[in-house]
Amino acid sequence: MCGIVGYIGNEEAKEILLRGLEKLEYRGYDSAGIALRNNEDVQVYKEKGRIATLRDAVDESAQGTVGIGHTRWATHGVPSKLNAHPHQSTTSRFTLVHNGVIENYEELKRDYVEVELQSDTDTEVIVQLVEHFVAQNQQVEEAFRTTLSLLKGSYAIALLDKEDADVVYVGKNKSPLLIGVSDTANVIASDAMAMLQVTNQFVEIMDEEIVLVRRDEVTIKTLDGTVVARSPYTAELDASDIEKGTYPHFMLKEIDEQPFVIRNIIQKYQNEDGTVRLDDNIRQAMSEADRIYIIAAGTSYHAGLVGKQLIERIAERPVEVHIASEFLYNMPLLSENPLFIFISQSGETADLRGVLVEIKEKGYQALTITNVPGSTLSREADFTLHTYAGPEIAVASTKAYTAQMAVLTLLAVDTARARGIELPFDPLQELAIVANAMETLCGQKDQLEQIARDYLLTTPNCFFIGRAADYFVCLEGALKLKEISYIQAEGFAGGELKHGTIALIEDGTPVVAVATQAHVNLSIRGNVKEVAARGANPCIISMEGLDQEGDAFVLPSVHPMLSALATVIPLQLISYYAALHRGCDVDKPRNLAKSVTVE
Ligand code: AGP
Ligand code: GLU
Repeated sequence: MCGIVGYIGNEEAKEILLRGLEKLEYRGYDSAGIALRNNEDVQVYKEKGRIATLRDAVDESAQGTVGIGHTRWATHGVPSKLNAHPHQSTTSRFTLVHNGVIENYEELKRDYVEVELQSDTDTEVIVQLVEHFVAQNQQVEEAFRTTLSLLKGSYAIALLDKEDADVVYVGKNKSPLLIGVSDTANVIASDAMAMLQVTNQFVEIMDEEIVLVRRDEVTIKTLDGTVVARSPYTAELDASDIEKGTYPHFMLKEIDEQPFVIRNIIQKYQNEDGTVRLDDNIRQAMSEADRIYIIAAGTSYHAGLVGKQLIERIAERPVEVHIASEFLYNMPLLSENPLFIFISQSGETADLRGVLVEIKEKGYQALTITNVPGSTLSREADFTLHTYAGPEIAVASTKAYTAQMAVLTLLAVDTARARGIELPFDPLQELAIVANAMETLCGQKDQLEQIARDYLLTTPNCFFIGRAADYFVCLEGALKLKEISYIQAEGFAGGELKHGTIALIEDGTPVVAVATQAHVNLSIRGNVKEVAARGANPCIISMEGLDQEGDAFVLPSVHPMLSALATVIPLQLISYYAALHRGCDVDKPRNLAKSVTVE
């Protein structure tokens, strides 16, 4: 589910593939490999661990102008050199990389594969199947197609044939994959970023299509062999967007980018007369829906919780927020005329796509809010709102979260206007104040680093408590801390503490309390007293005007309905410094992938 690259051209492929894989590192992986076709032979190099280890393992003499590469995030079989991709068929004629999950691999193994498999992966069965059908006298393209038609699950695949130096076979279903085209070479990439080094012209591949990628030609076909014509699009990415520059980590760079992102969103969605401008069709769909269902995962789900509050309060439309992976199993009774909003930084999260496919089948409309407009969820929804945050590379999402909440604010405002509801604030002005506050907060790193040192250097756990809108930020603060520092962190509603959680409080347990909402200021401070009385080490993060002596950190004042956009910044920075000083790999936390393209 992590990354695939491929190259077929006139230059040496080795360095292009390795650089491409490095650009995909942000997606999270546990092993990596490349295969190069050279002199009638295919050489495979693979290693557990980082691309740097793979680089060391690829010998100087490795050559070839055709090759494929892979980063693996293990789903079947432990992370190991043996299970790393590429995988080869028994005779070594075919070499294959795969992202995704083959759900029926055991069945296929039993029915078609006579040979002993070398790895524990679901993937290996695919390459053995191709060889099996070729042994039965099918041409390679036909064997590839037969194989793909048998697979159940998700896949992005690139296949090399030792006996044909002029083609790379590509197939896709549910997992992302693009073909990059240029005059001198054609390339394959899970993400355009990986191959910007060769071209910025990319062709999308739809599910259940195969592609024959040659040096000078790209042929797309459906699984039944019909040729499909499709023009390339220009990937609007600047190579400098995906460099760290002077920053030690992408996460820190992306935290610092947040004021610019909010200002960019204001500009992109502003009319000349200073009002908000969204697509007319989106406005109509939002106004006509009798209930809105927000579907998302992880950090995007947390943005959805804030979005619900904004849409309900500003536009007076009822909203439900659902975790994508549960929605189909715990499907609520749907209203008569629902609108679905999918919130996803990557636009590729498989759990969301599963819901999107299902609701489209039922004939409902969908809006995707995403940072990647050409992504699967964007293409397959009726409407898209772009979050304009620029590529987010660190696995821990930061600027995408605040951008999602800013866009949700504008969506709520635009819907309210369409419905003739008076706005509670001037949205663009209040967002501009948020951007300024964010800038101030990003300038207070020393203070936040000290908080991380004081509270989080050695603790095994940490609690975040808040009430009202602060509760949602606590969920996000806890997710941030646990995913990059491995401290067990949980976000709780302040009032829920007494119903069990307080049993976990021991001497010295850090409890971060967020207090930015006037109407619950006293009660959250009451909750702090309760935990302090039981030995906790409280750290209160409050807002100007609501602060009290002894608060650990005071935020500049922003509109209470937009407080999450500002409050999350100290939480992001505290997590960053906690992870840094605990020696964790901030940008690439263990076990995690940036975009989760398997269900
Ligand atoms: C965020 O820090 C996480 N790494 C993760 O929860 C993420 O938000 C989630 O996987 C959803 O991704 P998406 O927004 O790309 O759909
Ligand atoms: N399911 C395959 C495996 O475990 C592919 C995983 C991936 O997408 O990286 O090897």
